[in-house]
Amino acid sequence: MELSALAIRVARTPGLGMLPQVTSQVLRLVDNPNASPRQIGALIERDAGLASKLLKSANSAYYGAPGKIKTVSQAISVMGLSAVRSVVVGQAYQQMTAVRGASKKFDRLAFWQHGLATATAARVLAKLKGWRDPEEAFLAGLLHDAGRLVMDRFLPNEFDQALTLSLERVMPLSEAEREVLGYTHVEIGDLLAEQWNMPESMREPLRRHHEDVSFEECPLGCIIHAANVLAHQVGFALGAPVLYELPPTVRHSLGIADAQYEGLKQAIVQEVVKVQEALRI
Ligand SMILES: [Fe+2]
Ligand SMILES: [Fe+2]
Repeated sequence: MELSALAIRVARTPGLGMLPQVTSQVLRLVDNPNASPRQIGALIERDAGLASKLLKSANSAYYGAPGKIKTVSQAISVMGLSAVRSVVVGQAYQQMTAVRGASKKFDRLAFWQHGLATATAARVLAKLKGWRDPEEAFLAGLLHDAGRLVMDRFLPNEFDQALTLSLERVMPLSEAEREVLGYTHVEIGDLLAEQWNMPESMREPLRRHHEDVSFEECPLGCIIHAANVLAHQVGFALGAPVLYELPPTVRHSLGIADAQYEGLKQAIVQEVVKVQEALRI
């Protein structure tokens, strides 16, 4: 299928049954400087599952007030809007990956773990670099390969071919995708991001997550690239077990010492295990 034809199919499938309406409304409000936390809280309360997940997160030890947060608006003020956004998207993402597509070879659990591992690494890298919004980095990490969910749904045969090719030739899955389709999950992901009304500030780094781009030129793109490589290196991989390395520009512009990467890798593994236990996956 041509990319343009796929774009039409994606556009004609409202929400793709993937990102619930409340989620996209919350995302739009969080990015709107005129929106008040009260408005956002009112929206979240309309979705009981989401509200309870938010309360659970706000009451976790991480925010320092376990068991004390009783309302959604308290949760928002304790966590901050950015972290609220991560929970909202994390919940939607979990639902998205739970929807079965038609691919026979796509491992949805591995996909979910890979997204979470990349998100965790991105958040830590963002903090190390003093990037303004570590939660935005987490979100971008979580969503960076979302185009593959569209492949699972609309291009299952091509996706299976790419997965097989990746294993046979021990090549990165994205290269196998390009060989089979003429484009990759990156272009497809951008169709999805458009459908979700993501701001360009998020779409650009997602489009560039496989480019050797410097931190100065596209901070989030550089962070996500490195986070994706680290996720592969610790074993949360998709496709063939290819040796992933940080490309020179990403490596130099991040300027992070090798020893720090080792600590970071351990943190990624621990976080994935922790979240998996919390969500009982
Ligand atoms: Fe990717
Ligand atoms: Fe990835």
